[in-house]
Amino acid sequence: MLSKTIQEALNNQIRIEAESSQIYLAMACWAEVKGLEGVSNFMYAQSDEEREHMLKLVKFVNERGGHAKISQLKAPNVTFKSFKEMFEKLFEHEVYVSQSINELVHISLQEKDYATHNFLQWYVAEQIEEEAVARTILDKINMIGDDKGGLYLFDRDIENLTVTTAATNTPE
Ligand SMILES: [Fe+2]
Ligand SMILES: [Fe+2]
Repeated sequence: MLSKTIQEALNNQIRIEAESSQIYLAMACWAEVKGLEGVSNFMYAQSDEEREHMLKLVKFVNERGGHAKISQLKAPNVTFKSFKEMFEKLFEHEVYVSQSINELVHISLQEKDYATHNFLQWYVAEQIEEEAVARTILDKINMIGDDKGGLYLFDRDIENLTVTTAATNTPE
């Protein structure tokens, strides 16, 4: 059974993951109308992933005797000054999500809810990866600068971007 405090904290994270999905969907649309198909496909996939993160939490809350709350979401930014700005926002958002996950882990320990603590470890590892991906993209964008040819190649290659982190390297 989930405590009231844990349930509220998990429901808050459900909202954050849902908002992440919307934020990235808006980025996908912006990239699509700008003609960058690779970036757009990448962001559509990110949006789908965030929805998966949300659903995983929804199921967990419901399975443990709680009731997942589906709440109203903040409208995301729909336009950006540049791709650099868009990816900066993506990185900032992932850092914000990591902080929120950390806080959630902290609450689970305070509440002595070790099942939730264990469940959240997946999110801890996922955030290490997502921040690393966002950082790699920003490094590439900074290298390209205003070079149109560079942006063309970046758009072509982003869908195959793989980032190996210390977390993904850890033997099971
Ligand atoms: Fe997420
Ligand atoms: Fe994420």
